[in-house]
Amino acid sequence: MPTVKKDIQETSKKISQVKKIVKKRVEALEYGDVQQTPISAGTNWKDLEFSKPEKTIRIGTMFSGIGAIEHAFQRLGLKHKIAFAGDIEPNCKKSYFANYNIEEKDWFTDIRDFDAKPYARKVDFIIGGAPCQAFSMVGKRLGFEDARGTLFYEFARVVKETSPKVFLFENVKGLLNHDKGRTWRVMHDIFEELGYTVYFRVLNSKDYGIPQHRERVYCLGFKNKNTKFEFPAPIPLEYKMYDFLEDYIDTKYFLKEKGIKFVTSQKNREKCYTQINGDIALCQKRNQQFNWHGDFVYHPDSKLTPSDETFDDFIFDVKDVEEKYYLSDKVKKYVLAGGTKNFKTSTKTDLDIARPLLQSMHKMHRAGVDNYVTHKGRIRKLTPRECLRLMGFRDSFKIVVSDTATYQQAGNSIVVDVLIALLKQMDITKYGV
Ligand SMILES: C[S@@+](CC[C@H](N)C(=O)[O-])C[C@H]1O[C@@H](n2cnc3c(N)ncnc32)[C@H](O)[C@@H]1O
Repeated sequence: MPTVKKDIQETSKKISQVKKIVKKRVEALEYGDVQQTPISAGTNWKDLEFSKPEKTIRIGTMFSGIGAIEHAFQRLGLKHKIAFAGDIEPNCKKSYFANYNIEEKDWFTDIRDFDAKPYARKVDFIIGGAPCQAFSMVGKRLGFEDARGTLFYEFARVVKETSPKVFLFENVKGLLNHDKGRTWRVMHDIFEELGYTVYFRVLNSKDYGIPQHRERVYCLGFKNKNTKFEFPAPIPLEYKMYDFLEDYIDTKYFLKEKGIKFVTSQKNREKCYTQINGDIALCQKRNQQFNWHGDFVYHPDSKLTPSDETFDDFIFDVKDVEEKYYLSDKVKKYVLAGGTKNFKTSTKTDLDIARPLLQSMHKMHRAGVDNYVTHKGRIRKLTPRECLRLMGFRDSFKIVVSDTATYQQAGNSIVVDVLIALLKQMDITKYGV
């Protein structure tokens, strides 16, 4: 190639690279990143006491699902009153009404039809995790009215109509990067436009006592302009997923050959589609249990059920599956862990301790010690109750819908222990009446 032509080509390449950089810088200046709020370096949230435990907190929830925040208030033993709640999914209503005190008139179905004005100044705290809708704010900075037609708008509208002292908006971590950060910037500015001081941060539930990798953005808005807030600091993880397992499991949760092959395949494990006997659960998703994705438990063949023919269908030999070496290690680990399991409640403020059944769990696993050398065993999915436990729901939470619906509801919910950390850190009782 002649030198001049080569030079021109190289120069134009450089120009387009510089152009890209300039464009990025202009965008950054125009939209300016909003920075995440730091973690508190003060007293750990676990050691904080509520300043006004006698107060009642009036809460309103949107996209209520199975009421993670309501369950957090129950676990903390805090006085509270549900002013309103709602969810478009009929099964959520069933679960909600079975577990919380709410009058029919205070339940709404579709948030888009919910007139919140009658609750104006009658709620202290509003919470919602709007399903993430990709809405693009291309071009200019937009305000509250421009967000119309989105579920986020509905959340902001209810905040505007009711004017709570505090709100919590929860969402997937990816929201912060959507459309180069513009979507979040717009949402953030809308909250400020409504008169709130806004703090937000991505928190992982594994840092707040629950062995599940679940990163979510938590955004708090305070009506009092002078409120200072820092996020609760992580605490060491005391429990492993193993500590959340049930004792006796129905055969319907065990996998047959095809499922076992899928779940143990190296490819699927490497892609983190599946995990067997993990210490920290993968992030629960609403559909995980139907396509063999998520967490699974390997049970070494146990003398506990030798004559149970229904179980024999599920036994496989570790040597027959792709992951024979991997599983052999897991066998050892699982069996050695047996008998040491001793789940305790994860915060000392837990007042409705409801975990008696975890005490006797060692039986099944100890039984495996005798013959784990056989390399035979079974693999099962998590039960709905285990999925709920891994979201921080105590066994006092009543399951009144099908397995399918419970898996979905657990996968959609918020980890209760993270909410407990937030409630303590902000001293929610300050906002009660
Ligand atoms: C991510 S989940 C939130 C779960 C909830 N935070 C919890 O603690 O279980 C989103 C919920 O919004 C509900 N939803 C979706 N569209 C809705 C609408 N238009 N009106 C009311 N609820 C809606 C879904 O049914 C789902 O339960």
